[in-house]
Amino acid sequence: MDYDLSAIVTPYVTEYIREKTVHNNPLLTELEEYATLNKVPIAEPETARLMSVLTKLVRPKKILEIGTAIGYSSIIMAQGLDADGKITTLEYDSKTAEIARENIKRAGLADKIQVIEADAKDYLSYLDEDETYDMVFLDGPKAHYLFMLEDAVRLLRKGGLLVSDNILFKGMTADDGHFARRKVTIIHRLREYIDALMAHPQLETSILSQGDGVTLSIKTISDKERFLDK
Ligand SMILES: C[S@@+](CC[C@H](N)C(=O)[O-])C[C@H]1O[C@@H](n2cnc3c(N)ncnc32)[C@H](O)[C@@H]1O
Repeated sequence: MDYDLSAIVTPYVTEYIREKTVHNNPLLTELEEYATLNKVPIAEPETARLMSVLTKLVRPKKILEIGTAIGYSSIIMAQGLDADGKITTLEYDSKTAEIARENIKRAGLADKIQVIEADAKDYLSYLDEDETYDMVFLDGPKAHYLFMLEDAVRLLRKGGLLVSDNILFKGMTADDGHFARRKVTIIHRLREYIDALMAHPQLETSILSQGDGVTLSIKTISDKERFLDK
């Protein structure tokens, strides 16, 4: 089987969705072209739009992003931030982090988005619970999502949203036995990650087969907590 995004969504449907999902932001277009030319993995156009809609819905004060790349998704999410909202985004490659900072400055968002050069796995474990976020966007190393889950949940406020990208990994996560051998570790870890999300006592998760596969997980509030909140 030849793996591409058609393994998740039929190509003509993807084509149709992308044809309709247009924006007229010249900087974002430039970043999309840069990413294609330089093979930088950024969110698929339909996932980028989903992130835009979700942030405008949640109106977060604080977003934590794991995996900045060139700042594309940070810039998109910043449009939905609460007026005094902030994004902290983690990137371990210093050259990439520098490009992201430059793009963020050009977007006029340097005061809203802080790019931190760090290995996310270590960085998350250093943050304490006082540092809670309204939204966490997990878009970094797929093989390590599983090991970041508990920190992500710990750092998410109750009622907050955890979005994880690339969880269907071009369809391979869902396809028993038909994947390239060199991808076997990532695929097994993604499967374990999805199982962990679905079984997590503090999360309610929906799996979306759009883009490269996205999960939306809400950190649940018990009825008792909801009652005490009022
Ligand atoms: C899929 S890209 C992020 C795309 C970006 N969110 C967007 O849509 O514009 C993943 C990024 O995570 C970075 N990354 C990989 N492992 C990491 C780690 N352990 N800590 C921090 N960043 C990491 C990679 O260098 C890469 O730039």
